[in-house]
Amino acid sequence: MMNNIVRREVIPLLSDEDIVRARKIVRDWTISLKFSLVDQTKLVTAVSELARNTVEHGGGGSALLEMLDDSIRRGIRLTFEDQGPGIANIDQAMTDGYSSRGSLGLGLGGTKRLVNEFDLSSEPGKGTRVTIARWK
Ligand SMILES: Nc1ncnc2c1ncn2[C@@H]1O[C@H](COP(=O)(O)OP(=O)(O)OP(=O)(O)O)[C@@H](O)[C@H]1O
Ligand SMILES: [Mg+2]
Repeated sequence: MMNNIVRREVIPLLSDEDIVRARKIVRDWTISLKFSLVDQTKLVTAVSELARNTVEHGGGGSALLEMLDDSIRRGIRLTFEDQGPGIANIDQAMTDGYSSRGSLGLGLGGTKRLVNEFDLSSEPGKGTRVTIARWK
């Protein structure tokens, strides 16, 4: 399907302030697309989790934010990218309760359940890229 990108922004993810900024932009976009309050919160929560992973596990990176409108559906696609250590075992990382640093380990699995599309690719030693989308 043709995706018409109506807005596009690339932001660095190096600090907590960057995470706050990413959350704010995505919140504003969900409002302008008239997402329900529940759907706004789902996507903003997903941003928090993935941006935090980029900063904390990936050693920092960036987020590509895209607002899509192809006249059939409208939505938001977000790509989180870093050049950190990568993930050796993706199935394990996706499993609820697994964390390499004694945290809750709910970030990736929880995020997948909050969005319509979820794609994770990672190569040890090279980095990690997670793309999610939520449609109106
Ligand atoms: N960008 C990343 N780079 C490297 N490893 C990652 C990245 N994102 C996730 N991981 C690995 O996947 C594991 C699971 O991630 P997840 O977000 O589910 O849990 P967590 O970040 O450890 O804990 P929580 O998000 O619940 O605080 C992490 O512990 C980490 O080992
Ligand atoms: Mg996490």
